[in-house]
Amino acid sequence: MTRYQNGLQHLKDHQYRWLVTGVAGFIGSNLLEALLSLDQKVVGLDNFSTGYRHNLDEVKERVGDDAWLNFNFIEGDIRQLEDCRHACVGVDYVLHEAALGSVPRSIQDPIRTNESNISGFLNLLVTSRDASVRRFIYAASSSTYGDHPDLPKTEAVIGRPLSPYAVTKYVNELYADVFARCYGLESIGLRYFNVFGPRQDPNGAYAAVIPQWFAALIKNQTLHINGDGETSRDFCFIENVVQANLLAALAENPEAVNQIYNVAINERTSLNQLYEMMRALLLVKFPHLQNHRPTYMDFRKGDVRHSQADISKAGKMLGFEPTHRIDAGLKQVLEWYIGHLTLKNEKSGASI
Ligand SMILES: NC(=O)c1ccc[n+]([C@@H]2O[C@H](COP(=O)([O-])OP(=O)(O)OC[C@H]3O[C@@H](n4cnc5c(N)ncnc54)[C@H](O)[C@@H]3O)[C@@H](O)[C@H]2O)c1
Repeated sequence: MTRYQNGLQHLKDHQYRWLVTGVAGFIGSNLLEALLSLDQKVVGLDNFSTGYRHNLDEVKERVGDDAWLNFNFIEGDIRQLEDCRHACVGVDYVLHEAALGSVPRSIQDPIRTNESNISGFLNLLVTSRDASVRRFIYAASSSTYGDHPDLPKTEAVIGRPLSPYAVTKYVNELYADVFARCYGLESIGLRYFNVFGPRQDPNGAYAAVIPQWFAALIKNQTLHINGDGETSRDFCFIENVVQANLLAALAENPEAVNQIYNVAINERTSLNQLYEMMRALLLVKFPHLQNHRPTYMDFRKGDVRHSQADISKAGKMLGFEPTHRIDAGLKQVLEWYIGHLTLKNEKSGASI
């Protein structure tokens, strides 16, 4: 049995209470689905700023009415200390996903990003400490590597941040570290690299590249690539992210705690390669894509040129073994997008 299989078995045998912040968003709703499927109790907190009620409805449909009874949703805001305090009551593990994502959004509105991503984060740290939770797992980000040129990225070597968003995610790591030293709050930060999967929002100006491109390709709309298309990323399917969160929560080795881990595959895919992979997958059902070509735009401010994770630390310390590489993930998510895309999706520059 792998450590993950052991962890899943442990959760089937033991019921805990989890707080998932950002539960109506992409990653949060997938964590919710996984936890409820394992018969765990979950408190969810979200203010619907970028998440949706229909994500929660979909989870309910997938897990069934009985499992849904283990879910308690609080509509609230992490910028409000009292909302965080209320959400933390009796909680064993916190999976903190709520934040305003997107590099361009943070360049557009650094104050709002700061309020949720730093002040909100601090509120949740304080209330997690006060509630004596067992462990605080939080969404960190590959953007923290900033302008450091080394590839693959190893956790200990970072550069200067390239956006306000990257600053906020780095400050999260600093605060979590200080809370471990000053108050003994156990935490683990997971630096996600370009996550994709079901329920990732294809709409709006700050949509991530994979959902936005699925929408553009399926509807035969203009698809924009920022720069020359040779910008590359380590795209990580959501099931690997769920695995990393559960392993982080359950890790027993004290040396594995109060650490930061890369969560990705250790593979680099350029935007041009991604475009061709997605077009080829969809071509079977959408013959109009035979002649589809992308439109190249200027490079975008704040974007890192290349990104690829060394995941050996998570492998060694947590037992992290990604189950889905990019091609398997794209194949799995394809049907979801085909089934869910609506005609009102509009085009704009995709966020990577
Ligand atoms: N998706 C990725 O590729 C990626 C990569 C690196 C890090 N992350 C981080 O992972 C986390 C989840 O990202 P996601 O892709 O699921 O984004 P998402 O926008 O789908 O989910 C974020 C959720 O947080 C909620 N939220 C935002 N501000 C809030 C506030 N003040 N109070 C309460 N709820 C609030 C939103 O309504 C939304 O439901 C974020 O912290 C993000 O920075 C994501």
